[in-house]
Parts: sequence; C-alpha cells; structure tokens
Amino acid sequence: MHHFRYSGETLHCENVDLAAVAQLYGTPTYVYSTATLVENIDRLRRGFGNLDVQVCYAAKANSSLAILRQFANLGAGFDLVSGGELRRVLAAGGSIKRSVFAGVGKTEAEIRLALEKGIYAFHVESEPELARINHIAGLVGQRAPISIRINPDVDALTHAKVNTGKSDSKFGIPLKHALLAYEACARFKNVRIRGVQMHIGSQLTEIGPFQEAARKLAALAAELKAVHNIEYISVGGGLGIVYKDALASGSPDWWAAQPAERRPLTPEAYGEALAPILAPLGLEVMIEPGRFLTGNAGVLLSRVEYLKRGSGKNFLIIDAAMNDLVRPAMYDSYHEIVPLRRDTTRRALVADVVGPVCESGDCFAHDRQMQEVGEGEHVALMSAGAYGFSMASRYNSRPLAAEVLVNGSGFELINARETFEQSIAGERIPKFLQ
Ligand code: LLP
Repeated sequence: MHHFRYSGETLHCENVDLAAVAQLYGTPTYVYSTATLVENIDRLRRGFGNLDVQVCYAAKANSSLAILRQFANLGAGFDLVSGGELRRVLAAGGSIKRSVFAGVGKTEAEIRLALEKGIYAFHVESEPELARINHIAGLVGQRAPISIRINPDVDALTHAKVNTGKSDSKFGIPLKHALLAYEACARFKNVRIRGVQMHIGSQLTEIGPFQEAARKLAALAAELKAVHNIEYISVGGGLGIVYKDALASGSPDWWAAQPAERRPLTPEAYGEALAPILAPLGLEVMIEPGRFLTGNAGVLLSRVEYLKRGSGKNFLIIDAAMNDLVRPAMYDSYHEIVPLRRDTTRRALVADVVGPVCESGDCFAHDRQMQEVGEGEHVALMSAGAYGFSMASRYNSRPLAAEVLVNGSGFELINARETFEQSIAGERIPKFLQ
C-alpha cells in the first residue's frame, strides 16, 4: 500500500497535489512519500510477529541521503555494496555498526574503510575475498567480522537479470561447500565468524522460493551455530511489489478484492512464512529489503512534450527518459503511467510512451492505453522509488533529475536538479588539444 491517490481529479502524494511539485521544481522529478516509507518498514517488521528482525535496508534501491536518514531514524542498518554507499550512509547520519558490506568485488580501499568505520559484518562472496579481508584486517590490527554468502541453488522465479540464487550465478558459495568454507575461515586469524547470509533474487512474487531457500539456509545455520557459534542469519532481500495495478494497490480495498490465489505477496505473508523457519534457531535474524521499502513510495513526474500521431501508432513523447528511469529499457519492466489531472470526459489514447533519448529502447510502455494527454500536461510513472534515481545516468548529456520528499501537507527538495556546470565539473580539455 502507499499514499498516492486522486483527491478530486488531481493526483496527490499524501496531502500534496503533485501538479504543485511539478510546477515548482519542474520535471523530470522523483517524488517520495514519507508515510509510505514509514509504513512499509513497519509492516515488514510486524510481519515477523514476535521475532525481532534487524532491517538492513539495501541502499542500492535508493541511496538519496534523505531516504537513508529516514530509515536510520527508524533504527535500520544498511546493506552496502560500495565505498560510495558507505560514505552516503555516514553523510546521512546512519550507523555503519549496524550495517553489512556485500558484493563480489570489494576493493582493498573499501575493506579498509568498512573496518575503520566499524562495519557489523562483511558478506563474503569468495575465498580470495576472504584472504584479502584477512590480510587487510591484519594490517590495521583488527579482526574482521565476516559471514559467508551462501548460494542455495534455488530458482527465485524472477527476471533473469535479478535471479541470483542459482548455482550458475556469480554470487555466493555453493551450499555444499559451505562447511568447508567456514572451516577455512576459522583458520584465518584476522577474521571472526559472525553469521551466515543469502540473497536469491529481486522482485520475487511467490513465497515458495523464499521458503525453500530459508529452509536450506536454516539447516546450515543450526550447524554453524553449534560449531562456529554464529550470532545471526540473514535471508537477504527480494520481496516484490505491485507494478501492474500500482495506483489501485494503494488502497486496502484493492487488496481485499483480490482473490486469494491472485493476491500479491504481502510483507505479512512473507514474515509469517519465514518466522517459523527462522525462530527456532535462536539467532538474530536480518533482512535486507530494498525494493519493498522504497519502490511504491516513489513516482517519477514527467511533462508531455508532444503527442506524435504516426501511421498506425501514436507516440507520447515525455521529458523523462531511459537515463532517468532505466528499468523498462533494461528489464522490460512495467510501470503504470497516470495523468496528474484525471479527466473522465477525455477519449482514451493508445500510444507508446517514449522519452527523447536517441534509441528505440527509450520506451516506457508499448501500446499503452491511457487517458489522452497533450503538450504541457503531466504524468506520473508509478512504482519508481526503487532502482529509479539510483540507476540514473547522464546519457545524452541530460542532467540528473530532481528529487522531492513529501511529508503530510509539506514537501521539500531533497536533491536539486543537476546543473550543466555540475555535470562537466570534473572534465578538462588536455593541453595538447588546446
Ligand atoms: N541484498 C543483496 C545482497 C542484494 O544484492 C539485493 C539486491 C538486495 C539485498 C535487495 O533486493 P530487493 O529487496 O531490492 O529486491 N536493479 C534491479 C534490481 C537489482 C537488485 C540487486 N540486488 C531492478 O531494478 O529490478
């Protein structure tokens, strides 16, 4: 659920008319709802019932400082994958001591930085990485807390580019080698075994793979607790969100109307399924949600530039592009597109909704049926809060978009639109060309 809905005929985020945001800050602009962020983390935690879960928000989903601060204020730690993310959490006032460092390619500098700032644990993905962490920890005179990322060989039944728990993926260490890998850890004198981790993929919409993988990891965790005295088990992130009926899914009525077999996975069902598998272990339980926390808490506002009527095809050309939101181009993902001003007297339009970037792939939707909108009017691309701005680029020399955070009836700019000067600030014409 979320807090984007029509009030009268205008699309609101909480109590803010989104047209006012577009007018003040221009477009393309990402807008996030504080109430939705808070509710999402709350529901996820409550879903596990009496089991206390430590949320390490996967910063990659949306690493804007204000968003990180919001989750830090709510007691979350962070799942980090780069020195840049780590510094962002510090800049936002978050706690590294509650955060974990994941990723297959940690550099020496990143390992040093994480150790210096007191990282809760490294999620180790390979033996050479373990050796490197051990080496650097020795140099700085620390014992590095580590957990191994286990690959449970479970198909997450999601898009191939975000399916990470099968044996042919680059992630983790196969379950069958896990005990040996932990024995190897015990022989490295500058590391300290702290837990065990997995992450099988993103945008999972079925509970089965989560359960299957959690059962496999729980069996291993019980052994690791007995032999290596581990403290925690992390089951990663991956909980999916609603993209197709994004706007409607903001309302509890929509959820109530879905027949049980078609009801999308909820945080309650997720927690309810996993808690009985994890609770008997008597370990701390960690989750690393990204998309679920921010995905439906954000939209991308865009202005219609042209409605180009072609032969047999219409193109709605908007001022947002694949550089602002790359998900449709990269994963063929669906984002609902709705007008900021609803007008039921208008004709329906069937069009490809495209951006100005010079690639056919710069297309947000094919043959999408929607209310007719024209030049100067605005639309919102729904469910854009996760992997939207954080994956944005400057392709076609377009500036990074602005970001706004709504809180009740108020809103604030949390990231100003990049200026041209900022975008070229690091560039130089070399002497030999002058
Ligand atoms: N933990 C680890 C180790 C991860 O690799 C990820 C995401 C997460 C947690 C958070 O997963 P989530 O709860 O957000 O599903 N750019 C893609 C998604 C990439 C996910 C990468 N790893 C997209 O836009 O669909």
